[in-house]
Amino acid sequence: RMLHQQRFTVVLVWVAALVQSQSTDGERHDLGPPCREIKHAHLALGEEPSTSMTISFSSSECVSSNALWSRSGPPVGIVEIGTSRDKMSHSIMATQPPNQYLATLTRKVGNYTSDFFHHITVKDLKPSTRYFYQCSARTQGTGVSREQMRDEAFEAGHESNRYLKKSVHMTHGSFVTAPLPGAFHDTRGKRFKFVMMGDLGHYEKSILTMKHLDENKRLVSAIILAGDLAYSQGNHKVWDKWFDLLDQFPVFREVSLQVAAGNHDVDITEKSGEIFTAYENRFRMPAIQPAIRKPVKGGGSLTKFLSNVPYPLDYDYGNAYYGYTYGPSRHLILSSYSNFDPGSKQYTWLVDELEKVDRSITPWLIIIMHVPIYNTFEEHRHDVQHTKGREILEPLFVKHHVNIVVSGHVHAYMRTNNVAFGKVNDTGPIHIIAGDGGRQIDSPFLNAEPEEWVVTRDSTVFGYGTFEIYNSTIAEWRWIH
Ligand SMILES: [Fe+2]
Repeated sequence: RMLHQQRFTVVLVWVAALVQSQSTDGERHDLGPPCREIKHAHLALGEEPSTSMTISFSSSECVSSNALWSRSGPPVGIVEIGTSRDKMSHSIMATQPPNQYLATLTRKVGNYTSDFFHHITVKDLKPSTRYFYQCSARTQGTGVSREQMRDEAFEAGHESNRYLKKSVHMTHGSFVTAPLPGAFHDTRGKRFKFVMMGDLGHYEKSILTMKHLDENKRLVSAIILAGDLAYSQGNHKVWDKWFDLLDQFPVFREVSLQVAAGNHDVDITEKSGEIFTAYENRFRMPAIQPAIRKPVKGGGSLTKFLSNVPYPLDYDYGNAYYGYTYGPSRHLILSSYSNFDPGSKQYTWLVDELEKVDRSITPWLIIIMHVPIYNTFEEHRHDVQHTKGREILEPLFVKHHVNIVVSGHVHAYMRTNNVAFGKVNDTGPIHIIAGDGGRQIDSPFLNAEPEEWVVTRDSTVFGYGTFEIYNSTIAEWRWIH
């Protein structure tokens, strides 16, 4: 009798949750049983970080078609969210289908079909507020009557209860929204601190970096990765492995992860020459407009390509370059691999952004891009992205009084004085290389005697940087190693 009542409750909950989704072809589909492999949840600041957040996650195993339920189309992602862990007051369903891609890997590894990547932007949130969320996905189907649906839902509801215990049909986390632009503290008086580093990877030292971030997650407002994220070397299973690693550390479900494009994120497909496939499908940054990506003509060998990435690649908007405001700081994320020549899309956007920054609201202006334009090391000294960056971007950074430029690429650490056109100069920005996130270290110096603009340089230890803002004139950069 008891058991019967419990079953009845399950039916009620499930039926109440039955919803319809609008598919892309305009036809209405019912939502059916839940997908089981929900994982890799991560966050990105939305266009207005004080009121929005993008929640990303992946799903793979969805209940297959059977006599009652005929599946059609990709699964639909759902985010439930609220200000208390026990009460997720809002349910938001994806309005766009999830991303999925196919990749041809080497003969040894075989073909690869990705998981479904769901990206749901939650809007109308309150600034500086903690929200709790959970992610799930459901199959879509057609040709099933309401009555049949209920029977099917009953079974599925039962099943979902079983999977709930194993906690694989759902993943959850929480986050704090950004403050209103200009605020120096959150509502409890806490200052804002950003983690910045490049070249993280999935190695032994990368794990130590992630662990350290996780232990200090309550102090971190956002994590900004300056490119070279997973080091997939053309094998997209490595991206899955990288996200599996992130899953081990709750910090990545609680603190937003802003990314910049590195050479190892290009992921050129040997035959088709397609670029940035994983980077575009797996992340959703606050885009200016949807990405424009054109394949590299003739494709090519990945190893050859990575040793000398041609400039420029045909990649604009999307996750390539974007900006957002977090409290008293404006962050502009650039793509070293997209065109930034005067007149290019990126250049035009950047000039416009730099001109409209209101320093009375955001006194701190920060640039993040993979390739440094000041480099005391031998590595990557002759990259075209480095020399062109110095020639084209530096005049803009100096003119607009950028405070700091944070890069990776060289697997080492360097901090300069304020510098302009090769000379120490108060009006120029401070340049930082923080490419010691985990991939490897040991980059020789170009000159035994450091250049006059170098303050610190080290290629012997791993670490990451933090940038903490005290007020409109004082901020603290730390190198944690
Ligand atoms: Fe790297």
